[in-house]
Amino acid sequence: MIQCAFKLPNGTVLRNRLVKSAMSEALGDRFNNPTQGLVNLFARWSKGGAGLLITGNTPVDRCHLEHAGNFVLDCQSDMARARQLATAAKSGGSVALVQLAHAGRQTPELINPHPLSMSSLRLNLPGFGTPKVATESDFEDVVRKFTKSAALAKEAGFDGVQIHAAHGYLLSSSLSPRINTRDDRWGGSLKNRARLVLAVVRAVRVEVGDDFILATKLNSSDFQKGGFTHEDSIEVAKMLQNEGIDFLEISGGNFEAPASYQYKTKQSTIEREAYFLDYARDIKAVLNIPVMVTGGFRSALVMNNALSSGATDLIGMGRPFIVDPEFPTKLLNGSIEMAPAVERDFPPAEELPRNAALNWFCHQLALHGENGDSDIAVSVIDGHENYLAAIKFLTDRFLAARVL
Ligand SMILES: Cc1cc2nc3c(=O)[nH]c(=O)nc-3n(C[C@H](O)[C@H](O)[C@H](O)COP(=O)(O)O)c2cc1C
Repeated sequence: MIQCAFKLPNGTVLRNRLVKSAMSEALGDRFNNPTQGLVNLFARWSKGGAGLLITGNTPVDRCHLEHAGNFVLDCQSDMARARQLATAAKSGGSVALVQLAHAGRQTPELINPHPLSMSSLRLNLPGFGTPKVATESDFEDVVRKFTKSAALAKEAGFDGVQIHAAHGYLLSSSLSPRINTRDDRWGGSLKNRARLVLAVVRAVRVEVGDDFILATKLNSSDFQKGGFTHEDSIEVAKMLQNEGIDFLEISGGNFEAPASYQYKTKQSTIEREAYFLDYARDIKAVLNIPVMVTGGFRSALVMNNALSSGATDLIGMGRPFIVDPEFPTKLLNGSIEMAPAVERDFPPAEELPRNAALNWFCHQLALHGENGDSDIAVSVIDGHENYLAAIKFLTDRFLAARVL
């Protein structure tokens, strides 16, 4: 049942099974430190009742942001602000993790025209440059950066980190034979393609110790021809377990094949809600560490069925937390039966500009930062356009503040 407490392998007890999965908030200031708006939002989410909160993706390298508004954890970070964020995220009784990421070839071109990647294969979307192919010393640097950021997350007072190895960012792309076309020890066989992710996880574990939560987010599949498959995912899950992670979150897709935040799906999926649940079930069957699955969960009935069927241990959700930060308490005490699912009323994606539905949610996060609340009366198109304008503003501000 979603109300039941859950003990992670490192001994940390989550007060229930509901987890806010990572959502990139774009609420960093011009030096990529948390704004007061971000701190306030995490305090609200913590009081909202979830067992676990995971921050939006937090780059380990300022040259490889996912966008200009990211909160970055590196040696230039304002640790007083990072501490405030950790304190806020734990203030209402949630356990709090930082999601550490390196955007790799999904770094916007304006931020880095030649981002580090496994090969020179450019993202097949406008606004992304031709990557620089990583060398041995680049890989060492990437491992060092993840390790440093994890140490800073611990110093700031977070309970753990989640290594982002999903959604097409550097670590996820290293697993994909479509993007990772290398013929050295970092490419080719699955063992070689998993080398970077495992090196990061291993180094972070050594740095933070066994008491600190170390989780990983992994694609169930890239859903791309020639990409990382479900069979690959099952094997990598076992390798990650051997590295001593505390739990594995299952998602899917990347920028080119955006599968992680679906909203118009076939009837059978609407009823089942969680579109990666069957993949998670296969992965959990070969593991003895906890599994979390994210994507589509909305009704308490479906969540409880997923838990009691043994397909997952934790229920990850994203978009409902934006619409109503207090929904977990209501779902847990039975005053609502479903988390908000406003996206179900959006027009079909084919009738909207690319990413409009996602950008509407990003705009709502910006409203939380500015006004302390969302405003679901904003139309999908207005939300989309407002977010595009906000990202342009954040990028110009970032570039003006950047010291090269
Ligand atoms: C606005 C927004 C930002 C997101 N940012 C991230 C992110 O930074 N890291 C990540 O792993 N997933 C990110 N996601 C994906 C969510 O973690 C989650 O997998 C997805 O929203 C599906 O869950 P849901 O159906 O409960 O919303 C984001 C999703 C949204 C809507």
